[in-house]
Amino acid sequence: MAIATTLIFFLVILSASLHLHTNTVQAQQRRQSNITLGSTLTPTTNSSWLSASGLYAFGFYQEGNGYAVGVFLAGILEKTVVWTANRDNAPVPSNATLVLTSGGWLVLQQPQSQDTDITGLTQRASYASMLDSGNFVLYNYSHNIIWQSFDHPTDTILSRQILLAGQDLISRASETDYSTGIFRLSMQRDGHLVQYPISKSSPSTAYWASGTFMYGDNCSLHLDGDGHLYMLNATGTTNIKDLSDAEPTMEEKIYRMAVDVDGIFRVYSLRRALYNKLREIERAN
Ligand SMILES: *[C@@H]1O[C@H](CO)[C@@H](O)[C@H](O)[C@H]1NC(C)=O
Ligand SMILES: *[C@@H]1O[C@H](CO)[C@@H](O)[C@H](O)[C@H]1NC(C)=O
Ligand SMILES: *[C@@H]1O[C@H](CO)[C@@H](O)[C@H](O)[C@H]1NC(C)=O
Ligand SMILES: *[C@@H]1O[C@H](CO)[C@@H](O)[C@H](O)[C@H]1NC(C)=O
Ligand SMILES: *[C@@H]1O[C@H](CO)[C@@H](O)[C@H](O)[C@H]1NC(C)=O
Ligand SMILES: *[C@@H]1O[C@H](CO)[C@@H](O)[C@H](O)[C@H]1NC(C)=O
Repeated sequence: MAIATTLIFFLVILSASLHLHTNTVQAQQRRQSNITLGSTLTPTTNSSWLSASGLYAFGFYQEGNGYAVGVFLAGILEKTVVWTANRDNAPVPSNATLVLTSGGWLVLQQPQSQDTDITGLTQRASYASMLDSGNFVLYNYSHNIIWQSFDHPTDTILSRQILLAGQDLISRASETDYSTGIFRLSMQRDGHLVQYPISKSSPSTAYWASGTFMYGDNCSLHLDGDGHLYMLNATGTTNIKDLSDAEPTMEEKIYRMAVDVDGIFRVYSLRRALYNKLREIERAN
């Protein structure tokens, strides 16, 4: 079967989101490298925490009639969601609050209901950070990373993010609904990268496989900063399969790989200069 990877330049999507979202996300995002205990976000004001360069944001984004919590490209590209917290929970109304509590827990609070935990941690955080890589990270009091969104991928990996043996990417339900969809890309412990329909993960139902079982267990999937998507063996030293080629580095691009709604996984690139231009237009409006 054909390898289901393509490189796509999504200018069309970009201009579409420019028209749709120019009015919805003005000046609601705060640049804050270290997020301290007691910090809060709400869907309509101070809706997200930005990474240092302002590229990625962690916080609320619009979904259906409400809001979900996740990581996305900041600003007009807010629809480029790369991670979602508790993706199968219903969207929350605008009176919800996201809090990094003074006790060190990251929770979603809603009037008259119990707090919803975001991370599943049993250890208190001392601060959090939205990194420029797109990784949202929590630290403990000795500055060790105790949780990171890169360890809990939903349907996407970003540059320098690794899909480890035993991890899956699962498509979203639809272009606008980020809950669990119907296709799974599984980095199996046996060294095989395999695509399955979600409900039937047996060899006979696989619709694509990398054919890398002979390289031993615990292989992993990697996306580099130049769009190179490939697999390494357990030692991490040997490239056992190339899935997409590196692009010549003529200019800076933002790469991501996603298992799309149609079950195909694709590598996407976005020129950084174009992104910056669109952000400028947004700010000017
Ligand atoms: C974030 O906090 C850590 C640990 O306290 C500190 O080392 C670092 O300088 C802080 N970064 C910023 C940008 O304030
Ligand atoms: C939230 O935004 C308002 C302005 O809309 C600002 O006055 C306030 O300081 C912000 N609060 C926090 C916690 O960032
Ligand atoms: C919060 O918003 C929901 C949905 O709009 C509404 O049903 C509920 O009454 C609100 N709660 C409070 C305390 O305002
Ligand atoms: C922080 O986490 C590291 C690694 O998990 C652990 O060794 C350390 O004891 C923790 N520090 C605190 C203060 O909990
Ligand atoms: C693969 O990972 C498992 C679980 O961590 C470990 O027991 C096993 O030794 C690893 N195998 C190889 C070839 O690295
Ligand atoms: C990974 O490949 C290298 C080079 O072929 C080999 O030396 C190493 O043993 C391999 N690692 C595993 C865990 O198979």
